[in-house]
Amino acid sequence: MKFPPRVKIVDVGPRDGLQNEKQPVPAEVKVGLVHRLQDAGLKEIEVTSFVSPKWVPQMADAAEVMALVERKPGVRYSVLTPNMKGFEAAVASRPHEVVVFGAASEAFSQRNINCSIAESIERFAPVVEAARARGIHVRGAISVAVGCPYEGDIAPERVELVARLMKQIGVQHVGVADTIGVGTPVKVQRAMEAALRHYDIDDLSGHFHDTYGQALANTLAALEMGIWQYDTSSAGLGGCPYAKGATGNVATEDVVYMLQGMGIETGIDLDKLIDAGKYISDYLGRQPNSNAAKAILNKRAG
Ligand code: HMG
Ligand code: MG
Repeated sequence: MKFPPRVKIVDVGPRDGLQNEKQPVPAEVKVGLVHRLQDAGLKEIEVTSFVSPKWVPQMADAAEVMALVERKPGVRYSVLTPNMKGFEAAVASRPHEVVVFGAASEAFSQRNINCSIAESIERFAPVVEAARARGIHVRGAISVAVGCPYEGDIAPERVELVARLMKQIGVQHVGVADTIGVGTPVKVQRAMEAALRHYDIDDLSGHFHDTYGQALANTLAALEMGIWQYDTSSAGLGGCPYAKGATGNVATEDVVYMLQGMGIETGIDLDKLIDAGKYISDYLGRQPNSNAAKAILNKRAG
């Protein structure tokens, strides 16, 4: 078993983490989280989404949030852009990367972005072209890659199809997402293998929600395959408004704790990361949804 010597973590907490919060979170607080994450050593942060404010009201302040971030050299900032309207709005914010997000099931594609898989690819194509022409990197997310809230189990062939279509339009990197956290390690490996038919291992990442408590195990299963890039969420925040009952992404704190214990380099300062998660959890009035964070906070208190 050979694990990668270093792992890149993209903290998606400010975006995936907060998009599902019912109470409005002020732009200053979102930015406060971004600043703490970059101080903790995160080199890539998914900041916000340029989506319809009618669909996701929490992300309506995308441009304001991006404008308020004090950029740290060496840190890359990414944003979600589902269509040209979102991309055009995002450009002024100078993201390093834009994310187009498709799905491995037709039902989820319809619920999340209001179009079929084929239509979504048609909408993404000009976004990819315009982004690449400006030197902006393009990542694609493949949602519900192992299970769908509307269609149930998803076959790896569905992931293979979306990866192929994304590759054809020039998407440079794909993230295989277990949106509702139903995946288990071998299923996740099958989904990853399907994406690897079209993407190099250096252009592939895992994005695991933790609804059934499998996300760390799924991360380890992907690490065993040599996959070294993961989306995680500070304090385990998150959920998709169009995937009812699904909880947050695997907590960044838990993943960093695990990787540190395995001697895998992340460049992240766990103590500062705990502070970042505590900051946003205090604002939301709850405990961080991370076992490692809770244990370390208890230890500090005791
Ligand atoms: P639509 O209604 O089909 O779009 O929505 P439309 O082109 O027909 O436009 C309808 C209205 O929306 C118009 O406004 C447009 O201007 C406006 P109106 O004339 O009615 O006033 N509009 C926009 N406004 C702002 N920004 C835009 C935009 N586009 C259109 N970009 C659309 C299609 C994709 C916009 C909509 O379905 C949407 O916003 N969906 C967002 C869903 C979302 O954000 N989901 C969560 C993120 S994905 C996720 O969490 C999964 C991930 O974490 C991986 C995983 O875990 O699976 C990434
Ligand atoms: Mg997600």
